Amino acid sequence: MPFFIRSFMIMLLSFLAIQLNLCFSNIQFSLTDLRITGHFSFVNNEFAGKDYGNQFRFLPLAVLYPGSVSDIAATVSHVWDLGPGSGLTVAARGHGHSIQGQAQAHRGIVVNMESLKKPKMKFEFEFGESGFGYVDVSGGELWIDILKESLKFGLAPKSWTDYLHLTVGGTLSNAGISGQAFRHGPQISNVRQLEVVTGKGDVVTCSDEQNADLFNGVLGGLGQFGIITRARIALEPAAQMVKWIRVLYSDFSTFTRDQERLISAKNTFDYIEGLVIINRTGLLNNWRSSFNPKDDDEASQFKSEGKTLFCLELAKYFNPDNDNGALNEEIESMLSELRYIPSTVFMTEVAYIEFLDRVHTAEIKLQAKGLWDVPHPWLNLLVPSSKIHVFGDEVFGNILADTSNGPVLVYPVNKSKWNNRTSAVIPDEDVFYLVAFLSQADPLSTGKDGLVYLLGQNKRILDFCKEADLGVKQYLPHFNTQDEWRAHFGQRWETFQRRKMDYDPLAILAPGQRIFQKGIMDL
Ligand SMILES: Cc1cc2nc3c(=O)[nH]c(=O)nc-3n(C[C@H](O)[C@H](O)[C@H](O)COP(=O)(O)OP(=O)(O)OC[C@H]3O[C@@H](n4cnc5c(N)ncnc54)[C@H](O)[C@@H]3O)c2cc1C
Ligand SMILES: *[C@@H]1O[C@H](CO)[C@@H](O)[C@H](O)[C@H]1NC(C)=O
Ligand SMILES: *[C@@H]1O[C@H](CO)[C@@H](O)[C@H](O)[C@H]1NC(C)=O
Ligand SMILES: *[C@@H]1O[C@H](CO)[C@@H](O)[C@H](O)[C@H]1NC(C)=O
Repeated sequence: MPFFIRSFMIMLLSFLAIQLNLCFSNIQFSLTDLRITGHFSFVNNEFAGKDYGNQFRFLPLAVLYPGSVSDIAATVSHVWDLGPGSGLTVAARGHGHSIQGQAQAHRGIVVNMESLKKPKMKFEFEFGESGFGYVDVSGGELWIDILKESLKFGLAPKSWTDYLHLTVGGTLSNAGISGQAFRHGPQISNVRQLEVVTGKGDVVTCSDEQNADLFNGVLGGLGQFGIITRARIALEPAAQMVKWIRVLYSDFSTFTRDQERLISAKNTFDYIEGLVIINRTGLLNNWRSSFNPKDDDEASQFKSEGKTLFCLELAKYFNPDNDNGALNEEIESMLSELRYIPSTVFMTEVAYIEFLDRVHTAEIKLQAKGLWDVPHPWLNLLVPSSKIHVFGDEVFGNILADTSNGPVLVYPVNKSKWNNRTSAVIPDEDVFYLVAFLSQADPLSTGKDGLVYLLGQNKRILDFCKEADLGVKQYLPHFNTQDEWRAHFGQRWETFQRRKMDYDPLAILAPGQRIFQKGIMDL
């Protein structure tokens, strides 16, 4: 080939390559041109394409480390101005503890919320009917840090998740459910005000009184209507210590009857959960996380024989300075109403913060064994109370009869503590159960502890719920088609879709939820 033709072809090819790259590097330049106090990063962004589930990996084009809310607003406004054609999306990333890529943005912009340090935590105290005040926190704040700061004033938020190394924005985009939810409702029922950056780049303060539609939309809204940059969280006086109790059942109906009795009793525990123990043989002390019953408990001699057991987990808050004779009597009396297997009362006492941060203690142990950063094919379901036995018979009696690869939680909550104007989707029944299959997969296994098997097991559970028409809803939902999303939202779909049109009409935000797609929003 003559030299000049070759040179011409090389020129042509490099010209084409430059054209192809242009759109990307243009965006890159335009981002670096934005006036912000934080910064963008275009390298070392692998962390933003990963999450706790360890199954989905989509690398972003850029990560924004915001210095203030106006950095986030400027970025979203810029993407808004680029119009639908750019295909560019923006995902707020909290602590990245999603399971299916929900905080990722394929070739988009990930906002690293934890670097948003403004506003600094600010406490307001009130003494009256409305409670003991509140704290204003950044949307990227971790719950553990809010707890530590509040305790300095003898206060604490009311409603939690089991694990506290999660961000406020991340849990409020879902619900935030734990053993206090039966009494206080989920975390989204304990927020007084939010500051949000919408999909048009507007910064809006909202509450039940002001911009209530946006406020309710964002709570449980899967990040679809705005990025939470500040939240006002209600507080209560904090306890110092916790009596932490576990009792065992061999019969599922007796177990759930007692759970439901406890959540509706006037005088009851401060925390009520439960877990399923599948096919364990041997002594049952210290079988999960940081719970270490006293050695001299009669219960520590209890031997399990391989069948399925149900463990009711309870906590009562207390202060050591008060009269604990009365407290012990009260606990005795509450326990005496229950029908667990006699001689299976495991009891321990821990500091309040140690109790709330208990899963982190387990995390440290798992980290040390290299078992924390493995795939987590979790499945979380909300099951109506009237169907929990049909569900339990099939799922615990059949699908999961021989093994479980991680904790399985089961506990009821009361719907009256959920505000039905929020985006959170729950079953249509007064009492429903959270059932959480918190599996971990051995990345090298092709057997019953491998990812493929566990995903298959989840599918069997979901298929059963659908076939038996149990009215089950997914919590932390994940679907592949918009039809499935519609079915998930049911009557709420119209409102959800209308809110998307109002607050993020170009579908810029939280693309990793895969509900709406930028450019092809079919409304
Ligand atoms: C070990 C562990 C224990 C858990 N225990 C519980 C539990 O007891 N109860 C419970 O309810 N949940 C629990 N979860 C689930 C957890 O609440 C959700 O996965 C939550 O989304 C994680 O928060 P994150 O900060 O990591 O959010 P991310 O995974 O970073 O984000 C989740 C979603 O929210 C969006 N988002 C993040 N920040 C914002 C923001 N500021 N504004 C708007 N949208 C935002 C993201 O774009 C994404 O779509 C647990 C998870 C783990 C890993
Ligand atoms: C749920 O809570 C409401 C309001 O507190 C109460 O009236 C109702 O009895 C509760 N239902 C159950 C089943 O506990
Ligand atoms: C329970 O576990 C044992 C081994 O630990 C296993 O042999 C058995 O098949 C399992 N299943 C049931 C239903 O017991
Ligand atoms: C919410 O609950 C109230 C009172 O029970 C009811 O009137 C209203 O229709 C419900 N709204 C939605 C959106 O379900």
